[in-house]
Amino acid sequence: MSTTLHRYAAFGAALFIGAAGLSACGANDDQSGDGGDSASGGDKTIALLLPESKTTRYEAFDRPLFEAKVKELCSDCGDVLYYNADQDEAKQSQQVDTAISEGASVLVLDPVNGAGAGGMVQTAQDAGAEVIAYDRLIKEADYYMSFDNETVGKMQAQALVDAMGDKGGILMLNGSPDDPNAAQFKAGAHSVLDASGVEILEEYDNPDWSPENAQKFVTDMLSKYDPEQINGVYAANDGQAGGVVAALTGGGFAADALPPITGQDAELAAIQRIIAGEQSMTIYKPIPIEAEKAAEVAVALANSEDVGDTTDYEGVPSFIFDPIVVTSDNVADTVVADEFYSAADICTDEYADACTAAGLS
Ligand code: GAL
Repeated sequence: MSTTLHRYAAFGAALFIGAAGLSACGANDDQSGDGGDSASGGDKTIALLLPESKTTRYEAFDRPLFEAKVKELCSDCGDVLYYNADQDEAKQSQQVDTAISEGASVLVLDPVNGAGAGGMVQTAQDAGAEVIAYDRLIKEADYYMSFDNETVGKMQAQALVDAMGDKGGILMLNGSPDDPNAAQFKAGAHSVLDASGVEILEEYDNPDWSPENAQKFVTDMLSKYDPEQINGVYAANDGQAGGVVAALTGGGFAADALPPITGQDAELAAIQRIIAGEQSMTIYKPIPIEAEKAAEVAVALANSEDVGDTTDYEGVPSFIFDPIVVTSDNVADTVVADEFYSAADICTDEYADACTAAGLS
């Protein structure tokens, strides 16, 4: 991928490491919803509104890649107005109002609650703005873009069933019931799991996707099931997978004897767990494809230009992208080859031996 991507991937990785160490740093400085000091783009002002910051992708990749692409494509759009809702639906609604009052003519909105975001979209449209539903469906939006979410769930479940030899018991940790993607991941996963020889011992819909909730759920399950009953874990994203690993290793499982665990988002910590054998796979959704397409469409709308060909998804003109399964076998050929992470980002001292075994150093 482009040098630009590498620069932002490194930036993103650095931000991720910084954010991991200073959890409130960076992600919340727009919590006030003031959108920062933006050089006005006049009637070409674009706003980006993201749902949360516990999942590293949004601050590490979605935001910097989107902002850079808008700057590259539109010299007179001004600075992007940026907001992070921190998983708070009411706050996101206020942020939409602020963006409109700041003159945004295009809103790129990743909703905390997809089903509840119709009112926000209507408010924006009533003010003459257009709305792109970003990564999560809002049926009232003017456009929608995301990865094929049911296929994500099918890929995760198939990888788990294959790793388990199509038998045994699993714990299933899904995403937030407010997140339309979570329902699609879940539907895709069940279409595979329900037809397999694998038994779902317990299923949990994590209200905020948080690693903390995932860790608590699995810790509670360890008081209900013997370790030998838990032969695999379906975790809908990498943040939860991290909580699962913490619970299992804290509950007596040896780090080199964990059951297969799935994930999604190709977070740096997940790639490290995968090469270390603590997580079996993740789903890589090349965020540059999604963030930069969103920027292209937003700039086209700001310039009253055509957005190009779309497909229909539940009645909304859409752009749908293909997800990629990543295991220790193809880390080099995916996230490293795309310069999403460098080998140096992954191969810290703690993972030096694992990287050598994976052919990364
Ligand atoms: C989903 C998104 C995933 C992950 C998750 C947690 O909507 O598609 O990539 O980020 O939210 O926020």
